[in-house]
Amino acid sequence: MSASLATVSYIGATILFILSLGGLSNQETARRGNLYGMLGMTLAVVATVLGPQVSGTGYAWIAGAMLVGGAIGLYAARTVQMTQMPELVALMHSMVGLAAMLVGFATFIDPEASKGYEGAAKAIHEMEIYIGILIGAVTFAGSVVAFGKLSGRIGGNPLLLPGRHFMNLLGLLVVIYFGREFLHADTLQAGMTPLIVMTVIALLFGVHMVMAIGGADMPVVVSMLNSYSGWAAAATGFMLSNDLLIVIGALVGSSGAILSYIMCNAMNRSFISVIAGGFGTTSVKPAAAGAAQPAGEVIPVTAVETAELLREAKTVIIVPGYGMAVAQAQHTVFEITRFLRDKGIAVRFGIHPVAGRMPGHMNVLLAEAKVPYDIVFEMDELNDDFPATDVVMVIGANDIVNPAAQDDPTSPIAGMPVLEVWKAKTSIVMKRSMASGYAGVDNPLFYKDNNRMLFGDAKKMLDEVLTALKS
Ligand code: TAP
Repeated sequence: MSASLATVSYIGATILFILSLGGLSNQETARRGNLYGMLGMTLAVVATVLGPQVSGTGYAWIAGAMLVGGAIGLYAARTVQMTQMPELVALMHSMVGLAAMLVGFATFIDPEASKGYEGAAKAIHEMEIYIGILIGAVTFAGSVVAFGKLSGRIGGNPLLLPGRHFMNLLGLLVVIYFGREFLHADTLQAGMTPLIVMTVIALLFGVHMVMAIGGADMPVVVSMLNSYSGWAAAATGFMLSNDLLIVIGALVGSSGAILSYIMCNAMNRSFISVIAGGFGTTSVKPAAAGAAQPAGEVIPVTAVETAELLREAKTVIIVPGYGMAVAQAQHTVFEITRFLRDKGIAVRFGIHPVAGRMPGHMNVLLAEAKVPYDIVFEMDELNDDFPATDVVMVIGANDIVNPAAQDDPTSPIAGMPVLEVWKAKTSIVMKRSMASGYAGVDNPLFYKDNNRMLFGDAKKMLDEVLTALKS
């Protein structure tokens, strides 16, 4: 393939990636968005492999790498549970960081790669290498720790070393100093030492940065690392003089940054305080198993009673959370929705921006179960409607419906916007026990007079509710 054809293909791939991002921003067009992304990636890979930069034994190496990478990807996609998706994503980000690091070192060592660079161009080329490895190392180390935290291999509590901000600042100054040394080095040997020192500091910084972040802030960290991985890819693009990588890296980097911002808003956290770390108390757990302190009496109900409440209602709002994903209850939720709508009851869904364990988690599950899009609403769209709602069914959600976020300024989730389900005539919370949710805080909703608790696995209980509704 000629260089100009490769460039045209790259432009085509870029357009497809932009269309993909546009499509993914809405659940109705998400499938199409995915398709555009797949086409774009295929075009990008084909244009790169057949492009002017690959020749001779390169094809065999690439074929081998694609076989191994493809097999691992296929295996992961088939075996990973939906609830493990954030861990997988964190692991993938670490790969992008590792690739940027390795490409950086390879570019520096390979005499071919720096041929033709003189004067200012040489300095810029070396700066690209230095910054590329820096971003790559932070992304790699941070993502590996994020993977460890999300999968429960590393505790969710923030590690708050004394003088940690000072240590970070010192690290930054050392990195800047060695950057200068690196640019002034005139031999490979002399350049290698500052490069290695900087890499070690960047790796330590990546570990330290994510270790200091509490479990409750991990969603923001994952999207922040997503953004970093984009910048790492863009840096790789600069090192390899590959325009497509630069553009795609910038797309991923900026969309990840926008997502982090949206999620910070959804959790009422400032981005700086997330990065500064420390949010999340000793009770923060990366999984929904924290022990809640009982704070009153709860009123349990049976599936039959739940069915009666639903049958008598005119308006129903369903609020799904992480537990619906764990129980894989979305199909039964759809059956119940269809049944109630057939009986003339108005059913809507209220989706919190950080419900579940990844952005759009609930939307994906509801779309999979074929719940119509037009009855699925964002939190802000229906939060004022709860007082006029007869029954709210909270299915395996906890933090996102916790009134303490509004009432208790000392709560770790104080200020986080929540779905005000307690304002409905009756709320029914479905969960297995009194355990707390992801943020590890007790939920006063459970003890309210108008709240009922339907204890049990969400899928099992909803099956019983459906049977009772139909009988
Ligand atoms: P959580 O607050 O984690 O609560 C989920 C509840 O589901 C738990 O209290 C659990 O109680 C229940 N549950 C678990 N398995 C169940 C099953 N099989 N059947 C029925 N119930 C089950 O979830 P949420 O309300 O969706 O809030 C999300 C939280 O995760 C927020 O704190 C958010 O910040 C955080 N987070 C979000 C993301 C993104 S991007 N969405 C990523 C990481 C973390 P039992 O154990 O008693 O059943």
